Amino acid sequence: MPTWWKTSATYSLFPASFSDSNNDGYGDLDGIVARLDHLAWLGIDAVWLGPIYPSPMLDAGYDIQDFCGINGKFGDLAAFDRLVAELHRRGMRLILDFVPNHTSDRHPWFLESRSSRDNPKRDWYIWRDAKPDGSPPTNWIDHRKECAWSWDEGTAQYYYHLFLPEQPDLNLRNPDVVAAIEEVLAFWMERGVDGFRLDAAMNLVEDELFRDEPMDDDIANGPPGWMDHLFTSDRPETHRVIAGFRRTIDHYPERLFVGEVIAPLVRMMEYYGRREPGFHMPFNNQIMKTEPWAARKIEAAIDQYMILLPDGAWPNWVLGSHDVSRAATRLGPEQARVAAMLQLTLPGTAFIYYGEEIGLGDAEVPPDRIRDPYEAYGQGRDPYRAPMPWASDAHGGFSGVEPWLPLAADYPTRNVAALRADPGSILHLYRALLALRRDKPALQTETYRPLRAEGDLLMFMRPHEQESLAVVLNLGSAQQEAVLPGRGRIILSTKLDRAEAAEGRLVLRPDEGVVVALSDKSPAG
Ligand code: NOJ
Repeated sequence: MPTWWKTSATYSLFPASFSDSNNDGYGDLDGIVARLDHLAWLGIDAVWLGPIYPSPMLDAGYDIQDFCGINGKFGDLAAFDRLVAELHRRGMRLILDFVPNHTSDRHPWFLESRSSRDNPKRDWYIWRDAKPDGSPPTNWIDHRKECAWSWDEGTAQYYYHLFLPEQPDLNLRNPDVVAAIEEVLAFWMERGVDGFRLDAAMNLVEDELFRDEPMDDDIANGPPGWMDHLFTSDRPETHRVIAGFRRTIDHYPERLFVGEVIAPLVRMMEYYGRREPGFHMPFNNQIMKTEPWAARKIEAAIDQYMILLPDGAWPNWVLGSHDVSRAATRLGPEQARVAAMLQLTLPGTAFIYYGEEIGLGDAEVPPDRIRDPYEAYGQGRDPYRAPMPWASDAHGGFSGVEPWLPLAADYPTRNVAALRADPGSILHLYRALLALRRDKPALQTETYRPLRAEGDLLMFMRPHEQESLAVVLNLGSAQQEAVLPGRGRIILSTKLDRAEAAEGRLVLRPDEGVVVALSDKSPAG
């Protein structure tokens, strides 16, 4: 039997936006507990919870003030324990967001660190003198594309931050910091947590010599003057830190360690670990970021990923996250269904972003309701983080009051209750796909065989000695004809209205995908 996470569909959930139990407009842990039956009905195996720790919430909780507590907006440790127990009772697991690259500037560690140059925690963060002319120590820029160094008046030095100035970077070259972080991991695993998603994994360590980044004048990488982040990202020492975390995690059985690695594929694959243990999986954003959504492009993106996957490494697939425009907005409601079939029939673990199961699109967020500080830098992410619509009543059944972010405008018709009542809805498609993953051994292995296809068609096989499956997807809006690799039977269509024998030529309707169970055990292809 493969380890639990290999066949799992993990549901990634933004805590403030899932369900509000105490009517303050913010989602919370008890709200999540109240909705677990939805996830169980859907067929979800694990929940990845966005950050729930005490935080000023400048960066939606990725600015952490206490790694071992619960944000009062979301509940308390007792509510957390209830969530763990209720998930486990339903056979589901819990993965926590884990953010050791930086803290909030209100974290007691930073308050101590900035209190004086000789404070014992001074070296827990990255402090440097100004250059003789008073300018910052290097040319490094942060995610806002502004200077990554902020000046501290009190101690007359600069500190480094990859993200907001209110998110100082921890110094993970310091063994005391690493030890403190490893204690955090143990704390949560003792409380029953089944795994972690490591934030900003490529950026844990910076160049020891504090060298300036080179300018990259290659027009393909960005406009002239674009900076090549060679000294602040993907440093070799990062792997040592990740290996240490992984060893801590491996002290506890059956835990999962996933990493956010935004890098070219070849570099990303390094994060499975080479000389030292790495992640069980770095997230694979291939089908999320490939543009345009065109069969030959997607086919090539899948192929490249599968080819570069190291021996023994397990694949995974992501369609959306809290940092990118939602799949239903990027691809349109019809192709969102095709994308779901693609994601859930490819080999490996699937990460579903909350709302994808109802085809939720980006919400309109008027200027006076903006929450994300990155909006000021043209990178606002609020529209992808809107509340989950559960019903058509006021506030979408999410809360009894106006939610912290506006609901998507179509919530009166696009909500869990309405789609559950409609047997042809995308929600029922997700449920059917997740059931298929559990039922069909061919969907539980890492075996993938591409099939030659043309135009808007994308075809592949999932061979298995018991029963092989062919997946045939029409990524376009015109009818297509596919040639099947053998005789079989359509067992699922994205339109949920078709189950019939199939042989030879198969006509796919616009925006339709089908799974065909092949009767010949070893068909050609
Ligand atoms: C990556 C997270 O996905 C993003 O939402 C966050 O702003 C940064 N890391 C900083 O923690």
